[in-house]
Amino acid sequence: MFKSTLTIAQTGAKQLSTTSQQNAKVAVMGASGGIGQPLSLLLKESPLVTELSLYDIVNTPGVAADLSHINTGSKVKGYAGPDQLHESLKGVVVIPAGVPRKPGMTRDDLFNTNASIVRDLAQAVAEVSPKAFIAIISNPVNSTVPIASEVLHKAGVYDPNRIFGVTTLDVVRANAFVGEAKGLDPQKVNIPVIGGHSGITIIPLMSQASPSVSFPQDQLKALTERIQEAGTEVVKAKAGTGSATLSMAYAGARFAFSLIKALNGESNVVECSYVRSNVTEAKYFSTPILLGKNGVEKNLGLGKLSEFESKLLEAAIPELKKNIQKGEDFVNKK
Ligand SMILES: NC(=O)c1ccc[n+]([C@@H]2O[C@H](COP(=O)([O-])OP(=O)(O)OC[C@H]3O[C@@H](n4cnc5c(N)ncnc54)[C@H](O)[C@@H]3O)[C@@H](O)[C@H]2O)c1
Repeated sequence: MFKSTLTIAQTGAKQLSTTSQQNAKVAVMGASGGIGQPLSLLLKESPLVTELSLYDIVNTPGVAADLSHINTGSKVKGYAGPDQLHESLKGVVVIPAGVPRKPGMTRDDLFNTNASIVRDLAQAVAEVSPKAFIAIISNPVNSTVPIASEVLHKAGVYDPNRIFGVTTLDVVRANAFVGEAKGLDPQKVNIPVIGGHSGITIIPLMSQASPSVSFPQDQLKALTERIQEAGTEVVKAKAGTGSATLSMAYAGARFAFSLIKALNGESNVVECSYVRSNVTEAKYFSTPILLGKNGVEKNLGLGKLSEFESKLLEAAIPELKKNIQKGEDFVNKK
């Protein structure tokens, strides 16, 4: 399903030789941050990207100058501060702007700061580039995707097929952990991860693993919990200096490349993503999505769940609904 046997750079190189490059601009919003910098590096390295637009409220002239010395084909330009926000919005918009967790914090604890950052960036997209694909990394993703969606809806330009919550890191982690546990090449493992992007809302579907794997119940439970809490594992290990940045940059680049490939007309591009959905009772939900030129081409749904996974889904829905409502209320109840 995914091109998981290829590295990011290889995938990009393959793309270059097979399709045109008409949709290869990417804007990184929050480009000077812990995620933004390595994400921009990976994008700069790829022949898939022709123009890289780096926006942040600080330090983008330096980051852009630095990256622009790399001898790859894409143009790089930095934009600093709200005066240059509109100008920076070109092509696919990837948003890692906002504060990360410190030990003891949940993703929801970030809501107060990050909600307004995502709201304001979404407002700018609505004004300048309403047809852009928007990939939201900023947490809490379960709420920031509804926030951006409501902002675009209010502006009269909402297209639910073009707003994506980036949950790729959950898939990347699941693939890494299962590969390790089973002695498989993790690049060849694919575990769909559905639901949302926090704690119990993260639902890895081991029953749909490719290649097929099975675990005794206690190991399955432990592995599932590790995937759900993997972000916290990094937050604790970083001991107050931030959350996942490098693995997130890898996952964010993978997702951005998939969006570009879909825009360029490549077929069978599938990624799990948190999107507007009617697959469950939750208005937004992550499932495998077939991506196309207009964004979500087809929601591939839940597939067949095991009994264990059905219970995880049941537990996730009330939490997801609460997170979604909180995001919608933030935009509408003011
Ligand atoms: N989706 C995921 O799987 C996932 C994984 C890890 C982290 N995250 C989230 O990504 C976000 C960023 O994490 P980080 O480690 O890069 O944080 P960071 O603090 O290192 O970087 C954030 C950057 O955003 C910038 N910023 C702040 N306000 C801005 C605004 N209004 N416009 C543009 N840029 C602005 C900051 O200047 C900073 O450079 C956090 O919310 C974090 O929780 C998501």
